[in-house]
Amino acid sequence: MRFIALLPLGLSAFQVAAAQCTITALGTGKDDAPQLLTAVKACSTVTIPSSTTLNISSPLNMTGLSNKHLNLEGTIKFNPSVTYWSKNGFPFSYQTQITYWILGGTNLLLDGGGLIDGSGQAWYDAFASDSSLLRPVTLTLYQATNVVVQNIRYANSPEWFNFVNGGKNVTFNNVTLSAVSTSKNGAVNTDGWDIYLSDTVTIKNSVINNGDDCVSFKPNTTNVLVSGLSCNGSHGISVGSLGQYAGIYDIVENITATNIKMSNAQNGARIKCWAGSGVGSGIVKNITFEFFTETAVENPVCYETSSSECSEFPSNTLIQDIFFTNITGTGTSSTVADLGCSPDSRCSDINVNNLSLSYPSGTAKYTCQNVQLSGNSASLFGTCKTT
Ligand SMILES: *[C@@H]1O[C@H](CO)[C@@H](O)[C@H](O)[C@H]1NC(C)=O
Ligand SMILES: *[C@@H]1O[C@H](CO)[C@@H](O)[C@H](O)[C@H]1NC(C)=O
Ligand SMILES: *[C@@H]1O[C@H](CO)[C@@H](O)[C@H](O)[C@H]1NC(C)=O
Ligand SMILES: *[C@@H]1O[C@H](CO)[C@@H](O)[C@H](O)[C@H]1NC(C)=O
Ligand SMILES: *[C@@H]1O[C@H](CO)[C@@H](O)[C@H](O)[C@H]1NC(C)=O
Ligand SMILES: *[C@@H]1O[C@H](CO)[C@@H](O)[C@H](O)[C@H]1NC(C)=O
Ligand SMILES: *[C@@H]1O[C@H](CO)[C@@H](O)[C@H](O)[C@H]1NC(C)=O
Ligand SMILES: *[C@@H]1O[C@H](CO)[C@@H](O)[C@H](O)[C@H]1NC(C)=O
Ligand SMILES: *[C@@H]1O[C@H](CO)[C@@H](O)[C@H](O)[C@H]1NC(C)=O
Ligand SMILES: *[C@@H]1O[C@H](CO)[C@@H](O)[C@H](O)[C@H]1NC(C)=O
Repeated sequence: MRFIALLPLGLSAFQVAAAQCTITALGTGKDDAPQLLTAVKACSTVTIPSSTTLNISSPLNMTGLSNKHLNLEGTIKFNPSVTYWSKNGFPFSYQTQITYWILGGTNLLLDGGGLIDGSGQAWYDAFASDSSLLRPVTLTLYQATNVVVQNIRYANSPEWFNFVNGGKNVTFNNVTLSAVSTSKNGAVNTDGWDIYLSDTVTIKNSVINNGDDCVSFKPNTTNVLVSGLSCNGSHGISVGSLGQYAGIYDIVENITATNIKMSNAQNGARIKCWAGSGVGSGIVKNITFEFFTETAVENPVCYETSSSECSEFPSNTLIQDIFFTNITGTGTSSTVADLGCSPDSRCSDINVNNLSLSYPSGTAKYTCQNVQLSGNSASLFGTCKTT
C-alpha cells in the first residue's frame, strides 16, 4: 500500500484522512482483503491500478464510511472457495442472503473502469448439486447515503450482483453486469439489483446479461428511476415479490422504468405479489413502465399473483396507479400481456397505452382478470375475466 500525503506534516485527523493511497496485490497465495480494508479506513481515495488484481479471500466490511472514493481501475476478484464463503459471508435475514462485501456510510464513490469478479462459476456448479447452498451477493450497499457507483464492470456474481439494503440517494450509472456459465449449470439467481428498504435510487445507462431479475423492487422501495438499461437473458424488471411474510406490510411506490431494451427474457415488466394462505400485505402504487422494446420475451407484460390461488386466498397487496406505456416487441408465448388480479378491487387505476406486442408464431393474446383497465390499449384485452 502506498500513501501519498497531500498536506504537510502536523495534520488534523481529518486531513490525514485526505490521503490518496494506491494498493497493489501482495502476491500469489495472499489475501488482499485486510490491506484493502486498512486503506479504505485510512485514505480518502484508494486507487487499485489497472495492472492489479486483488485477491479477496475474507469478507469486506466497509460500513459507516464517509467521504470515500474507491477508484477501481484494476480488478477485485473474490476467491472461488465455496466452502469458505458459504460459512463466512455476512448474513442478511431478508430472503436468507449472504454477501462478500458490505459498503455503507455517506458520500461514497466507486468508479474507475475496473472489474469486480465474483468468481461465480464454482458457485453455479456447486449449486447444481446442492440447492440449499448459500451463495454470496457480490456487493451490498448497506445503510448507504449519497452513493455513486459508476463506470464499473461486474462479472459472474454467485448470487445477486447488487443488494441495495437501507439506501438513500444511491446512483448506479454505466455499469456492465455479466453472468455467464461455461458449464451446463446456469448462472441462476444472478439478479442485477435488488432494492430493499431504500429511497431515491437511480440505475441508468447500463448493460446486464444475467439469469434472473434485471432489477427487482423489494419491500419498502420508494422513488426509483431505472433508465436506459439493456437487459439480456433476464427475468425482467420486477416489482416484488411483495406480501411474502405474514404480518409485514410492504410498500413499493413511485417507480419509473423507462427506455428499457429487454431481450431473451422470461418477463418484461412484471408485478409479483404473493397470494395464498398466510401471506403478508402491502401496497404497490404509482409504478410506470414505459418505452420498453422487447425481443423474444416470454411474458412481456404481467402480474403474477399465482392466479390459481388468487380466488381462494386473495393477495392482501393493493396495486394502484400503474402505467404500462409504449411497450413494443415480440413475445415467445401467445399471451403477450397478462394482468391477473385478485378479486374485490385489489387492483385499481391500471393504465395501458400504446402497447404493441406481437407473437411471431400466431395471434398475440392480451388477458386480464378482476381488473378494470384504462387507456388506449384497454380494448386489446377485451372484457376481463372475473372470479
Ligand atoms: C488468495 O488468497 C488465499 C488466502 O490466502 C489463497 O489461499 C489463494 O491461493 C490466493 N489466490 C491467489 C490466486 O493467489
Ligand atoms: C462491520 O463493522 C462494523 C464496525 O466495526 C460493526 O459494527 C458491524 O457489526 C460489522 N458488520 C458485520 C456484518 O460484521
Ligand atoms: C445525492 O448524492 C449525490 C452524490 O453523492 C450528491 O451529489 C447529491 O447532493 C445528493 N443529493 C441529496 C439531496 O443529498
Ligand atoms: C463506461 O464505463 C466504461 C468502463 O466500464 C468506460 O470505459 C466508459 O468510458 C464509460 N462510459 C462513459 C460514457 O463514461
Ligand atoms: C443473451 O442471452 C442469450 C440467452 O440467454 C444468450 O444466448 C446470449 O449469448 C446473450 N447475449 C449477450 C450479448 O450476452
Ligand atoms: C415497511 O414500512 C412499513 C410502514 O412504515 C412498516 O410497517 C413495515 O414494517 C416496513 N416493512 C419492512 C419489510 O420493513
Ligand atoms: C409517481 O412517481 C414518479 C417517480 O417515479 C414521480 O415523479 C411522480 O411525482 C409520482 N406521482 C405521484 C402522483 O405521486
Ligand atoms: C411519491 O411521490 C409523491 C410526489 O413526488 C410524493 O408526494 C410522495 O411522498 C412520494 N411517496 C413516497 C412514499 O415517497
Ligand atoms: C401514444 O402514442 C402516441 C403516438 O406516438 C402519442 O401521441 C401519445 O402521447 C402516446 N400516449 C401515451 C399515453 O403515451
Ligand atoms: C413508442 O415510442 C417509440 C419511440 O419513441 C415511437 O417511435 C413509437 O411510435 C411509439 N409507439 C407507440 C405505439 O406509441
